Amino acid sequence: MNVPQQRKVVTEIPGPKSQEIIKRRSEAVSASLGMALPAVITNASGGILLDIDGNQIIDMGAGIAVVNVGNAAPAVVKRVQDQVAAFTHTCFMIAPYEGYIEVCEKLNELTPGKFRKKSALFNSGAEALENAVKIARHYTKRQAVVVFEHGYHGRTNLTMAMTAKNMPYKEGFGPFTPEVYRMPMAYPFRSEGNVDHVLEEVIHKIEKEIGTHNVAAIVIEPIQGEGGFIVPPKGFLPGLAKFAKASGALFIADEVQTGFARTGTWFACEDEGIEPDLITTAKGIAGGLPLAAVTGRAEVMDEIHPSGLGGTYGGNPIACAAALGAIETIQSQNLVARANELGKIMVEALNTMKAKYPVIGEVRGRGAMIAIELVKPGTKEPNGDVLGKVVKYAQAKGVLFLTAGTYGNVLRFLPPLVIGDELVNDAMSVLDEAFANVN
Ligand SMILES: Cc1ncc(COP(=O)(O)O)c(C=O)c1O
Repeated sequence: MNVPQQRKVVTEIPGPKSQEIIKRRSEAVSASLGMALPAVITNASGGILLDIDGNQIIDMGAGIAVVNVGNAAPAVVKRVQDQVAAFTHTCFMIAPYEGYIEVCEKLNELTPGKFRKKSALFNSGAEALENAVKIARHYTKRQAVVVFEHGYHGRTNLTMAMTAKNMPYKEGFGPFTPEVYRMPMAYPFRSEGNVDHVLEEVIHKIEKEIGTHNVAAIVIEPIQGEGGFIVPPKGFLPGLAKFAKASGALFIADEVQTGFARTGTWFACEDEGIEPDLITTAKGIAGGLPLAAVTGRAEVMDEIHPSGLGGTYGGNPIACAAALGAIETIQSQNLVARANELGKIMVEALNTMKAKYPVIGEVRGRGAMIAIELVKPGTKEPNGDVLGKVVKYAQAKGVLFLTAGTYGNVLRFLPPLVIGDELVNDAMSVLDEAFANVN
């Protein structure tokens, strides 16, 4: 590892060197771009980010579930170095190369679904979603796309329409693409009583408000990410998949955040044995290089006319080399099992904190995709204030935590899957200390 695996704070955060560069950032970079951690990073590996002032910060976000295999994972670095020295780009639509084909072979093999599959590669999660919808509309000859409350699918025009939350993603950016319909989401913590009725309500609304025969696709994250790590109750996803099948619509699982071992299986859909018609992936696929994919039933993926899909950079050879390195790392280090171990450590520590701090309303998630939802004690009223204070406190102590949630009150934990137990335990004790101090 190129960075010692230990938390160390040697200056205030941001330190003087970071402050200087961040000043340049504010002169040169559009103010529209957020910044969760005001520390300029120079190196990173395992579970540590090293900043320019020498602070070693525990990374509990993995660049939003991207570096599941850790930053600068050796197998990723080696393959990328070899590839970049060999050639950098031909455009796969102009002249093919084996890496692209190998990534598709791996995706077809690893994704759930005991049927023949094919894949196509793109650059970002949003682009994968755009293409999945194009494929579904073309294949079904229908237009309506069903999405869900609290869902997040990206920031392009179509994916903004598919995304639920207005601020900051959509405000002032409309008009949005038509034929996108948002349905109620089964959100156990915020639904009163039994959530089984939500599935019936969704089906009823689709029938009455869209017309089942108009639906091209039902698109859902198996565990909602940006919405606040909302895990639907058992039966909800299989019920939707079954309804999609019966009505001739495609069931599309957006596994951009949940994929690549994050939830303790290769893909989150495996938990209930769901076999989506199409799966979108990105983030964890390539150890930090920009790559995304749509994988699905061969007859669906092949129905599009030649040259109907593509793009200049989609499946760039360097990103494909990185993906092969990332997949190799997940397999050789058994990171699927590691995600479950990390989840256990975090859930145990968080439940202990929940018993002490009534501001923690719920601990939830699966594998190493865990979150806590913060509330005003004794209520379910969202508590974004405490969230902000806790995150700030932890940063000053050298721990990076990410936030999420429609109500801005969810603390999410997405550590790189190669992080050591000591670092996760250390991050959890800093969190405990933060709650004790800000409560
Ligand atoms: C579930 C899901 N879908 C799509 C996206 C969009 O991916 P990208 O930011 O790579 O466009 C994200 C990003 O957070 C996501 O979490």
